[in-house]
Amino acid sequence: MTARRILVTSALPYANGQIHIGHLVEYIQTDIWVRFQRMMGNEVYYVGADDTHGTPVMLRAEKEGITPKQLIDRVWAEHKRDFDSFLVSFDNYHSTDADENRQLCESFYLALKEQDLIAERDVEQFFDPVKSMFLPDRFIKGECPKCGAKDQYGDSCEVCGTTYSPTELKNPYSVVSGATPVRKTSTHYFFKLSDPRCERFLREWVAGLAQPEAANKMQEWLGSDGEASTLSDWDISRDAPYFGFEIPGAPGKFFYVWLDAPIGYYASLMNLCQRKGMDFASWVSPDSDAEQYHFIGKDILYFHTLFWPAMLKFSGHRTPTNVFAHGFLTVDGAKMSKSRGTFITAQSYIDTGMNPEWLRYYFAAKLNASMEDLDLNLDDFISRVNSDLVGKYVNIASRAAGFLVKRFDGKVDDTALGHPLLAQLRDAAPQVAQLYEAREYSKALRLVMELTDAVNAYVDTEKPWELARDENQRAALHAACSISLEAFRILTVYLKPVVPNVAAAVERFLNIAPLDWASVTRPLRSELPIQPYQHLMTRVDAKQIEALLAANRDSLQATAPQAQASGAAIEPVADTITIDDFAKVDLRVARIVACSKVEGSNKLLQLTLDLGEGKTRNVFSGIQSAYQPEQLVGKLTVVVANLAPRKMKFGLSEGMVLAASAADEKATPGLFILEPHEGAVPGMRIR
Ligand code: MSP
Ligand code: ZN
Repeated sequence: MTARRILVTSALPYANGQIHIGHLVEYIQTDIWVRFQRMMGNEVYYVGADDTHGTPVMLRAEKEGITPKQLIDRVWAEHKRDFDSFLVSFDNYHSTDADENRQLCESFYLALKEQDLIAERDVEQFFDPVKSMFLPDRFIKGECPKCGAKDQYGDSCEVCGTTYSPTELKNPYSVVSGATPVRKTSTHYFFKLSDPRCERFLREWVAGLAQPEAANKMQEWLGSDGEASTLSDWDISRDAPYFGFEIPGAPGKFFYVWLDAPIGYYASLMNLCQRKGMDFASWVSPDSDAEQYHFIGKDILYFHTLFWPAMLKFSGHRTPTNVFAHGFLTVDGAKMSKSRGTFITAQSYIDTGMNPEWLRYYFAAKLNASMEDLDLNLDDFISRVNSDLVGKYVNIASRAAGFLVKRFDGKVDDTALGHPLLAQLRDAAPQVAQLYEAREYSKALRLVMELTDAVNAYVDTEKPWELARDENQRAALHAACSISLEAFRILTVYLKPVVPNVAAAVERFLNIAPLDWASVTRPLRSELPIQPYQHLMTRVDAKQIEALLAANRDSLQATAPQAQASGAAIEPVADTITIDDFAKVDLRVARIVACSKVEGSNKLLQLTLDLGEGKTRNVFSGIQSAYQPEQLVGKLTVVVANLAPRKMKFGLSEGMVLAASAADEKATPGLFILEPHEGAVPGMRIR
């Protein structure tokens, strides 16, 4: 059988966030498949990259006071670290902001244009007049046109679930600046997906999709044959300012991030080919004999089953052999939640000291070839790892190895290795392989665990620990230990795609060459004595899970106010006033001379303020939730000095202390009073 040539990708994670366990479902799923293919002796390359372009990255960099390039470089290193930690074995991990990608995007675009598949059309969109930029839907908020809920995004209402276009929002405002957006027209570039050639091609291509659910979705999007195509043209351009690649011959127009992202798969491959002296064309040209698979989440099926194959086809490339979509991860039956601590980052998992192979094993035990969502049940996680992986599998080695090393110089009894139990294990190889190939990992592991049970049952019948007590049973002990260890070796072959580090440790301890699929039939040999057994894997401790959840809850508290300030809860800026209007407000620097809690109020603090007037003022301020009185004494702050005095239940308030707070204090708690820079003195006016 000749080796298959296979290109594999996972979706490119956005460079504006951390890798979390939801992402890891995909990267682990892909990595297991890739490792399996390598063990089969196929020529497989697994490429990935960070998805770096677009408005969110641009704005986040601006907020952090760094360039987008600095931001994406930092995130790239974080992502790479996380993938390495979880043993995700990319052959190349690249970036969409790379020369190869610019070059490929331009050539894809020019080829599509050549085919008359690019259209220019004017589009009216919301524009932020303060930031001078067009606003993506997610950067516009306002009141829901249906139910009136405030602070809803430009595409849908989180309160009543209605979807709409941003122009339908009432009292819209820009999340970036708070300004009221205006409508503005600009020329956009479109990929003509509605062209009959695209429709014809996609109808043909969909027939090859492996997953019936994906094929059904595609049929829905394509409409039934004979009817006019329901596909609309795809807007592939964005106006400056935008972090991305400028479109050739169109100054100020940039490729939309979703155009350059999938091309990033090829950019990563091109970079790999250049480094390794491989022939790029033999992978991507229409007559390529290689297979090409994209692992993705079900949320991005549209991009990978419509735009991407059509782009490939009409720009003169081969098309994907298949797209494999998976479902979404829930934790303990619910969507991952920051406040519950179940939005678990890859880094927090590693920092808690948890073993990445536990998660790889657990996900594998739950994954199948469908698009169904899958649940990480934390109790089930503990019990599966502890009882199956450690209790059943690792245990076999620890039971057999000691006797073999101590009593038989680590040498197996070659003559014992024709035992029917071993034949049974070896015979399962094609079936286990077929299940991996079909991405039915949960079935593969169930089968492997059944075999593991059979091995443990054998050890329980043979009772090596009893044989060891009787010198007459020396031969029987030798056979039993040899058979157990050879069984363990075969099981390790089957588990290697899932737990590669354990497998590597086993290879060292058994003193054998790296295991591949064919090595199932190459038994241990007495010429190569095994090494003393070393611990292969510890059990999960429930305390570690608690620590993991706590760590992710804490990180939320540390970052929440900041994250909110980045966009979500910024209230619109008030109506314009003149300088004369402003001059009416007399703001003064004041020293807080004394401060105390107000008896009978859980909101107010009573402040004694010096405004340099030769006498102090008494002011009540609703800041008790944010400050201890002693924190404030002696500090300078800012006061509205000419506010009409107000009689309150507790006395007269002669002014108002200024404090910053979010529009929605429930969503973003926190009150922050102002403090002038050093050098200001009480009584100074602020203007
Ligand atoms: N940048 C795009 C993909 C571009 S591919 C040319 C993107 N990035 S992402 O960071 O949001 O997601 C990366 C992958 O992780 C996607 O396939 C997505 O479906 C998957 N997942 C993100 N959250 C997930 C879960 N909670 N559960 C399972 N997969 C999840 O989309
Ligand atoms: Zn609504």
